[in-house]
Amino acid sequence: MHKITVIGVGPGGRESLTGAAQAAITRADVLLGGRRHLETFASGGRETFTLANNLINAVQFIKDRRHLRVAVLATGDPGMYGILDFLRRHFEPEDIEVIPGISAVQEAFARLVMPWQDAVILSAHGRDTGALVEIIKNSSKVAVLTGPESTPVRLAGLLTEAGLGERASFVCTDLTLPGEKVTGLKIKDLIGYPEGNRHNCVMVIVDE
Ligand SMILES: C[S@@+](CC[C@H](N)C(=O)[O-])C[C@H]1O[C@@H](n2cnc3c(N)ncnc32)[C@H](O)[C@@H]1O
Repeated sequence: MHKITVIGVGPGGRESLTGAAQAAITRADVLLGGRRHLETFASGGRETFTLANNLINAVQFIKDRRHLRVAVLATGDPGMYGILDFLRRHFEPEDIEVIPGISAVQEAFARLVMPWQDAVILSAHGRDTGALVEIIKNSSKVAVLTGPESTPVRLAGLLTEAGLGERASFVCTDLTLPGEKVTGLKIKDLIGYPEGNRHNCVMVIVDE
């Protein structure tokens, strides 16, 4: 039986794929990943499984193929609000190996030339926005992984209502991908910013 290899492929651009990740992808017999990741990184006649809202089916698919080298492609780093959390609920840690990737959060702070050891990292995916606002209020540096239901514009509205409109924010969209954009605005000015509705985004908020 082989270990299940969980590979962080970075935020999406080919240049952000590490050498170790590339080697693990090349070695794999079977690849699982989102459609975009499979299109970008999975070449050559191997069996694939496209991950969407079918994670439970993916578990059985993997279990049936443990005699093969199975690799799961994950955005950024798999351990940072990624698929590792889910896989750890279905497989033992000794059955998994992780190839770390460059997280979208790392890439965002790199663009801003900003150290981030003091940052609070939050995900807005499926999370109560009230709790999110409360944490942001009490933190001087935050990175939020935004989502379709919590875009930067929507969060900016809630944060402005909570009295945080004067804080600096940076909207880092489509990092490493064509169309990458990084914009700095006060939170209150983000409300009318059309690009703030794109959701493949890390929003950094700083209390300067
Ligand atoms: C499910 S989380 C996965 C995070 C991932 N594990 C990581 O380490 O970056 C997906 C979120 O990551 C952020 N993200 C992923 N790729 C991105 C990119 N290329 N540019 C900006 N944000 C990105 C977005 O907030 C997106 O909603």
